[in-house]
Amino acid sequence: PGDPGFAARLLAWFDTNGRHDLPWQHPRTPYRVWLSEIMLQQTQVTVAAPYFERFVAALPDLPALAAAPLDRVLALWSGLGYYARARHLHAAARACVARHGGELPRDFAALVALPGIGRSTAGAILAQAWGERFPILDGNVRRVLCRWHGVAGWPGLPAVEKRLWQLAEAHLPGTRLADYTQAQMDFGATLCTRHAPACLLCPVRGGCVALREGRVEELPTPKPG
Ligand code: ADE
Repeated sequence: PGDPGFAARLLAWFDTNGRHDLPWQHPRTPYRVWLSEIMLQQTQVTVAAPYFERFVAALPDLPALAAAPLDRVLALWSGLGYYARARHLHAAARACVARHGGELPRDFAALVALPGIGRSTAGAILAQAWGERFPILDGNVRRVLCRWHGVAGWPGLPAVEKRLWQLAEAHLPGTRLADYTQAQMDFGATLCTRHAPACLLCPVRGGCVALREGRVEELPTPKPG
């Protein structure tokens, strides 16, 4: 599990093959990272990007979001779907004004206490906004870890999920946490895809249990029933 080469190889791959021009990367502020992660929870990068630009042009920082009426936030969200995300975003901004001096807290427990922020989103925010050493575990990362470690069992099972969080933690590099977070997303989205993954181009194929055992297409294990 604790292969120090995994993160180093993903980072080297990311330098030449990753996405470095996403709107929330320039500038990479906590507010912009947070907003992007909420949008990306259920929306693809290419769809979310123009909505992100419009949203930050209208509401450029957390106090502006907190001060805006909910109707305005919902109008800016219009077209993205899953409107609970926009409601939670707005409520979380107001909670940050009430409890954290109008800023997003740089603290895991305080972040997951905010509406709309779960364990993986809190890790993604801490790593990308501040370079803090926290893992993420979204659908892409789950798939990569199940294959690389040959983990069988539906990832929705608590025991499997627990194991995947442990593995995600064990792979964390000592530096470049923001890049590593994005590298995992880009790797899962473009190379280690659900169907027909590009194993020949994979920077970590040398250690992949699923590839070695011919189980790439059957992992991760689908939901039973
Ligand atoms: N999904 C969630 N966060 C993401 C990110 N930063 N880049 C691409 N996809 C994502």
